[in-house]
Amino acid sequence: SLQRKHSIATMGADGIGPEVVNAGVQVLKKLAKLDGTFELEFEEYDWSSETYKKTGKYIPDGGLDKLKKHDAILFGAVGAPGVPDHISLWGLRLAICQPFQQYANVRPTKIFRGTSSPLRNAGHGDLDWVIIRENSEGEYAGQGGRSHQGKPWEIATEVSIFSRHAVERIMRFAFESAQKRPRKLLTVVTKSNAQRNGMVLWDEVAQEVSKDFPDVNWDKMLVDAMTCRMVLDPKSLDTIVATNLHADILSDLAAALAGSIGIAPTSNLDPTRENPSMFEPIHGSAFDITGKGVANPVATFWTASEMLIWLGEEDAAKIMMDAVEAVTERGIRTKDLGGNSRTKEVTEAVCKELETVY
Ligand code: NAI
Ligand code: MG
Repeated sequence: SLQRKHSIATMGADGIGPEVVNAGVQVLKKLAKLDGTFELEFEEYDWSSETYKKTGKYIPDGGLDKLKKHDAILFGAVGAPGVPDHISLWGLRLAICQPFQQYANVRPTKIFRGTSSPLRNAGHGDLDWVIIRENSEGEYAGQGGRSHQGKPWEIATEVSIFSRHAVERIMRFAFESAQKRPRKLLTVVTKSNAQRNGMVLWDEVAQEVSKDFPDVNWDKMLVDAMTCRMVLDPKSLDTIVATNLHADILSDLAAALAGSIGIAPTSNLDPTRENPSMFEPIHGSAFDITGKGVANPVATFWTASEMLIWLGEEDAAKIMMDAVEAVTERGIRTKDLGGNSRTKEVTEAVCKELETVY
């Protein structure tokens, strides 16, 4: 008999977004059917840059109230030619993340079996990180303005916001995340030598919160030195917490070091569970390959697996990831991973693999 039912909003949005989200839904449907202990219900939302161009809005009136009724959101990517990136990002992605208080952005990275890292000495198991990004304020708080536009004396400000409330909740989330992993190791990324206000508060709060987690080993790194450590000594890192901007950059580096931006997932979590959390591949809408059927769906599969964990379906999530890794290991890979398979072939191979497991 069916016990658990989860309602998922899907939103492919722009570029390859719909292609990879459709692939993800196909695998999730197969998984739920084979597993039989839980049920997934999907509702598609067609909000995108196309809707924006037609109506002037990404999110229709009352849209967020509808979205709020779901247990989770599976998102593709937003960004399209003809719409400035700051309009699309703030119009759709941040317009969901911010009101839903998805303050913890979680980005795991590892080197899959059967894929290789550009780092000469790193193989499967040598790079296994979780980057936690503050997702509600910091450098992306949207504070600032422009005066004297277009004049030679024009000025623009981009003000970073660090509130004790938001820094404390992300530090607590980071220490808890580190505590749940076997190594219990946390690196707090900072830049308190140069940024002497917000980043000093950041460091102080990390120190205070650490007292509640005596079993977590933690250290502090300046963000510039952190890039060197990620490249030169990846095994020395496990869980990492950083500001909105710093973690944005470090997590792209992490994805590249793990082999491809086409495999990395992101969770935008509201840890209070008052609002649905949103799950998305880390990559963007990739216009250069849109419509060609070659987008790597693995990032979305991993994203879907993270979503299942959040919904309490840990066993199914693990089975799904094992199936994905078995497929990459067998060489069924898209071009970005050095293979020549198409999105559809990788997706079907994962579905087939699931049939052999169940
Ligand atoms: P991008 O991630 O879309 O593409 C960067 C490069 O990686 C491209 O060569 C692309 O072909 C490749 N790539 C990305 N995903 C892939 C996949 N699944 N399989 C194979 N190759 C893949 O980043 P870019 O070019 O900087 O941005 C394109 C648009 O996407 C922009 O409008 C940007 O604002 C938006 N964007 C949206 C994000 C989101 O919705 N969360 C995140 C990043 C970018
Ligand atoms: Mg980014």
